Amino acid sequence: MLTSAQVAEWIEKTAAVMAENREYLTQLDAAIGDADHGNNMDRGYKAALERLSAEDDVGAILKSVAMALISKVGGAAGPLYGTMFLQAANAFAGKTTLSEEDVELLLERSVDGIKMRGRAEQGEKTILDSLIPAYESFQAARRNGTDLAGCLAAATDAAEAGMAATIPLIAKKGRASYLGERSIGHQDPGATSAYLIVKTLRDVVADAR
Ligand SMILES: Nc1ncnc2c1ncn2[C@@H]1O[C@H](COP(=O)(O)OP(=O)(O)O)[C@@H](O)[C@H]1O
Ligand SMILES: [Mg+2]
Repeated sequence: MLTSAQVAEWIEKTAAVMAENREYLTQLDAAIGDADHGNNMDRGYKAALERLSAEDDVGAILKSVAMALISKVGGAAGPLYGTMFLQAANAFAGKTTLSEEDVELLLERSVDGIKMRGRAEQGEKTILDSLIPAYESFQAARRNGTDLAGCLAAATDAAEAGMAATIPLIAKKGRASYLGERSIGHQDPGATSAYLIVKTLRDVVADAR
C-alpha cells in the first residue's frame, strides 16, 4: 500500500533527484536537443514542491504536481509529464491510499497521459521507451503475486533497460527527430528522466519496508 504521505514524499524526493541530475539530463539533451531538459525537470519539480498539496488526497497531490509542470515548464517535457500526472490524478480523486492494483493503474494512466499528449509509440526514442516497460513489468510482477516493493523493483529495472535501449534508436518525435539518423548513439533525455521518476518511487517504498 502507498499512502498519500508517501506520494508526497515521492514528489519531494524526485525534486531532489532532478536537482542532482540537472547537469546530466541537460548534457543528454545537448547531444540531440537544445540542452534544457535538466533545467526543465528541475524547474518543474521545484514548482511542484512549492504547490504540493498538504491534503490527505492522492488525487489532489498529483493534480497539484500536474498543474505546476504544465504551467512552469516551457519545453515539451512539462506538458507531457503534466498530462501524465493529470491522467493519474483523475483516477484517484479523494483517495487516501493506493493499493498495489492502484499503483499499476497509476503507471497505466501515466503511459496513457504521455501517449495522449505526445502521440508517440514505443520505439520512437521518447519517455515512453522507459515508461511502457516499467508499466508492463509492474503488471507482470503483480500477476505473479509479487509485493509492491518487488513490483516497483521490476518496473525500475525495466525502465533502466528501456532507457539504455533508446541509444541505438532514431528519434521520431520532438526536437531530436530533426536530427534523423544523427540521433543514433545517444540516450534519450526524457526516457532518462522517466526512469529516475520510477526509480524514486521504488526507493520511497523500499525505504518504508
Ligand atoms: N511526442 C513525445 N512523446 C513523448 N515524449 C516526447 C515527445 N516529444 C519529446 N519527448 C521527450 O521529451 C524530451 C525532451 O524534453 P525537453 O528537452 O524538456 O523539451 P524540448 O524538446 O521542448 O526542449 C525528449 O528526450 C523525449 O523523451
Ligand atoms: Mg530540450
